[in-house]
Amino acid sequence: MSKNVKNSDTGEILDLQSRHIPCPKSQQEFAIDVLLGLSHTHKWLPCKYIYDERGSLLFEQIMACPEYYLTDCEMEILKTYKKEIIAKIGKGKINLVELGAGSGEKTKILLQEMITDNIDVTFIPIDISSSAIRNFTTNLKKQLPGIKIKGLVSEYFKGIRWLSNLNCCTNVILFLGSNIGNFEPAGANVFLSSLWNACNDGDYLVTGFDLKKDIQLLLNAYNDSGGVTAEFNLNLLRRINNELGGDFDLKEFQYYSTFDAISGAMQSYLISRKKQYVVIDEINRMFSFKSWESIHTESSYKFLVDDIEKLASRNGFEIIEHFFDSKNYFMDSLWQVRKE
Ligand code: AVJ
Repeated sequence: MSKNVKNSDTGEILDLQSRHIPCPKSQQEFAIDVLLGLSHTHKWLPCKYIYDERGSLLFEQIMACPEYYLTDCEMEILKTYKKEIIAKIGKGKINLVELGAGSGEKTKILLQEMITDNIDVTFIPIDISSSAIRNFTTNLKKQLPGIKIKGLVSEYFKGIRWLSNLNCCTNVILFLGSNIGNFEPAGANVFLSSLWNACNDGDYLVTGFDLKKDIQLLLNAYNDSGGVTAEFNLNLLRRINNELGGDFDLKEFQYYSTFDAISGAMQSYLISRKKQYVVIDEINRMFSFKSWESIHTESSYKFLVDDIEKLASRNGFEIIEHFFDSKNYFMDSLWQVRKE
């Protein structure tokens, strides 16, 4: 293990996966997940597979849609409260860890402020995709020439555990954008307790939560007038076609997203417009679709402040402070890991 780590440490990027070849294991997992999901009585596909290169570009376009208020709200929160957030964290040596390599616009706000504040900070984006990490670190280096940055190609918890064992800095983990909303409630608890386990006592977590609000605003955010979100979801089928030899006819599937008050989430689907058969070569299967049968593609949970506080206390975190935007649409919550 330590030998592998050394071999793949190229300075700016550390590859804990040590995979420099296209990754057959992840392709196999993709195939298995598609097989399981489409064989289920209620067909479903995991939303994480939306994000190939095209899917990630489409998500950036979603973030720029006027209806998708989440991004602007979180930007406002970080711009307004960056000083307060940093003051709570203190002046010690910091690893600012971002889970997922986003576009960096949000992180840049905090990073820039820490640098101005003369805080000894290393920025550490963690992502399983080495190309995502490569692009992200190169771009950020250009935009903030003075920063210390170390991209980690790794699974989240493995990466954080590795950092925690170095015992050099306080970890400040960023999990922004309401990405936590993609987990089912049980999954969110598993995620947070695994994160707690991977962290040291006293580490911090900043999580973005999209709050419950007027249903029409939610519906608009997931049904943008430009149809970008529809394309984004359909990208799942396109990806199955490209990578697993599928023959989905994208025109014959309709995107549909609705707020479900029971689960408290926006639930998104691709619905078959007609009775049809789809062959997927790589998994040697043909799947039949009845007309108007659905594939569930994504849950985007919306939170009450109460839900959020329960998530923190159940999983060993102390809430330091909640930060809201001026419309109370979104919240970034600062928590601290308590182990004693
Ligand atoms: C990246 C999971 C936060 O659920 O709002 C955007 C993804 N889906 N529009 C969300 C998404 C449809 C987004 N997250």
